[in-house]
Amino acid sequence: MDSILVTGNGPLNGQIPIAGAKNACLTLMPATLLSEEPLTLTNAPRLSDIKTMTALLQSLGAEVSALQDGQVIAMSSHDLTSQTADYDIVRKMRASNLVLGPLLARFGQAVVSLPGGCAIGARPMDLHVEGLEALGAEIELKDGYLHAKAPGGLKGAVHEMRFASVGATENIVMAATLAKGTTVLKNAAREPEIVDLVECLRKMGAQISGEGTSTIEIQGVDCLHGATHQVVTDRIELGTYMLAPAICGGEVELLGGRMSLVSSFVEKLEAAGVSVSETEKGLKVARKNGRVRAVDVVTEPFPGFPTDLQAQMMALMCTAEGTSVLEERIFENRFMHAPELTRMGAQIEVHGGTATVTGVEQLKGAPVMATDLRASVSLILAGLAAEGETTVSRVYHLDRGYEHVVRKLEGVGAKIERIKGE
Ligand code: UD1
Repeated sequence: MDSILVTGNGPLNGQIPIAGAKNACLTLMPATLLSEEPLTLTNAPRLSDIKTMTALLQSLGAEVSALQDGQVIAMSSHDLTSQTADYDIVRKMRASNLVLGPLLARFGQAVVSLPGGCAIGARPMDLHVEGLEALGAEIELKDGYLHAKAPGGLKGAVHEMRFASVGATENIVMAATLAKGTTVLKNAAREPEIVDLVECLRKMGAQISGEGTSTIEIQGVDCLHGATHQVVTDRIELGTYMLAPAICGGEVELLGGRMSLVSSFVEKLEAAGVSVSETEKGLKVARKNGRVRAVDVVTEPFPGFPTDLQAQMMALMCTAEGTSVLEERIFENRFMHAPELTRMGAQIEVHGGTATVTGVEQLKGAPVMATDLRASVSLILAGLAAEGETTVSRVYHLDRGYEHVVRKLEGVGAKIERIKGE
C-alpha cells in the first residue's frame, strides 16, 4: 500500500488550481439515469470515487467514457439493462445510493444495496426512504437491499425532511423531476453541490426553483433531455489547500476559488489571524507573522462550517496559540484523526462530539495512519507544519477525494512524496 512522506519545510508560496467538486460530480453522474439522451460533465475531478461511480453506472448498462484525461465525462443511459445497484460496488462508497431516486423515477423500480463509505458513523438512509415514500414509492428492506417500486409512477407531494440531509435532498429532487405534478421539499439542504445539480437538471429540461434555500419546488415533466454541464469548484479541496499557507505560513493563491463557497470557513480563518482576499483568478490566503489564534468551531449544514473541513481545521488548531473547542454535529465518530494528530505532539481531548485542542508551539513528525478521506489530508497538513518527517499510510482514502495532491503541494514548495508500497 502506498504512503505519503511529508517533511516540514517552512512557508509555502505560489498557486494551487482547485478541481471540480467530487461531491457535485457524484450527484451529477447519476442524473444521467433520468434521461435517454447524453449528459456530459466538464471540469470533473480525477478521483477513485468517480471511477467507482463510473463502474456503478456501467453495471446498470450506461455508457460512461472519461475524455480529456478524465476531465470530461460523457454519459448515455439510452440502453440501461439493470435497475440493481449491487453491494460489491455500493459498499465502496455511500454516494452510490444516489442512483435510487433517478432509477425509481425513470423505471418505476430500483434495487439498491445499503451503502458503505467512510467509517464516520451510522449513516442510514431513512430520510431518503421517507422522501421517496412521500412521492408514492413503496420501499422494503430485504437482505441488505432497498427494494423500491412505484408501479403507477411517482406523484408530486409536499414533504418536510426531519434533517436537511444532502444526499436525501439530491435523491428526492432527482426523483421529483419526473413525478406527476408538483413537489415541495421543505427543510431541504442548501449546499452548493445541490445548487449545481439543480442547474444541470434545469439544462436537461427540469422545472425547479428554490435551490440554495430550504424550500425547493419541482414541477414534474414527462422526460428530460441531454445537456452539457460544468462541475462547480470543490469547496472542500479549496478549504483544505487554504489551510496549507495558514498552517505553514506564506502566501498561496487558490485558482478557481470563490468566497461564497467557503464564507463561514473564511470567517474562522480570519478570526484565527489568517488573511483571505479575492483575486481575479480566485482567493489568496496569507499568514505572515506569528502563530494563529485558537478559534472555536461548530460543524453545521451549509452555510455553516462544513464537517468535511473539521479534521483539517483541527490540524491548524493544533498549532494555534490558546485552546479551541471543535464540536462535530453532523457525524458521530468523526474524530478518528485526533489520536493520530496526538502522535505528532498535538494536545487533544475528545468527549463525545467535542474535541478540545490546546495548541502547541511545534508539532513533531511521526508515522500516522489515514482513517478516512478528510482525516488523511489533515495529517498531511499537520506533517507540513511539523518538524521532521511524517509518513501517512493507508492513502487510498486520499485518492478518493484529492487529485494530484503531491503535485499540487510540491508546486507551492512543500516537501512531499508518494512512496510506492507493495
Ligand atoms: C454528503 C457529502 C459528505 C458530507 C455530508 C455532510 C456527498 C457525496 N457526500 O454526504 O462529504 O460530509 O454530505 O455535509 O455529497 N442521515 C440520516 N438519515 C439519512 C441520511 C443522512 O440520519 O437518510 C444523517 C447521517 O447519518 C449524517 C447526517 O444525516 O449524520 C448528514 O448526512 P447527509 O447530509 O445525508 O450526508 P451525505 O449526503 O451522506
